[in-house]
Amino acid sequence: MPLPARIVPIDEVHIESFHAAFDNVAREHRYLAFLEAPPLASVRDFVLANIRAGNPQLVALVDERVVGWCDVLPKDRPTRRHGGVLGIGLIEPFRKQGIGAALMTSTIEAAWRKGFTRIELTVRTDNTRATRLYEKLGFAVEGRLRKDMLVDGEYVDTLLMALVR
Ligand SMILES: CC(C)(COP(=O)(O)OP(=O)(O)OC[C@H]1O[C@@H](n2cnc3c(N)ncnc32)[C@H](O)[C@@H]1OP(=O)(O)O)[C@@H](O)C(=O)NCCC(=O)NCCS
Repeated sequence: MPLPARIVPIDEVHIESFHAAFDNVAREHRYLAFLEAPPLASVRDFVLANIRAGNPQLVALVDERVVGWCDVLPKDRPTRRHGGVLGIGLIEPFRKQGIGAALMTSTIEAAWRKGFTRIELTVRTDNTRATRLYEKLGFAVEGRLRKDMLVDGEYVDTLLMALVR
């Protein structure tokens, strides 16, 4: 079956729609480290900075609307800049159709092309769908971060996972 979404590098025209999708997933309080999206103006600055820097940030589009995103952002410290942190999300109606796997595969390829040699992420221990996808793509669990998140009064452990080349 053809993929029901088009996967492209993010462009300025996608910013508002990306912000809406990000806000939507963040407000579920079940998956992300954000509980809502930052204000549109700061998301705009963030995306424009990524475009300028050539950081991998891809979006899944359905009828030109952003339904998902995946990015790999370089770490800060000079000794860690070969490493990037991956984030991904799809709005609910577009999950479980292969879009996440396709988005991630394209973003990982873009990260290798950019010169990263390590991609890491953290995932909540109760997010089995995401963890399965990461394992399928070769990510290995490197540790458990106990009480890593505090969401609506409840602590949540996460797994640190990484893919190296
Ligand atoms: C985690 C997430 C990115 C995965 O993306 P996705 O598009 O749902 O995942 P995929 O469809 O590529 O794969 C998930 C499952 O759907 C199955 N699938 C893929 N294509 C399918 C299709 N056409 N029909 C039915 N099932 C399908 C896959 O086999 C996979 O199943 P498995 O885990 O049993 O192997 C997405 O579900 C999501 O955004 N979740 C909420 C936010 C989130 O968790 N972000 C990550 C935080 S760390």
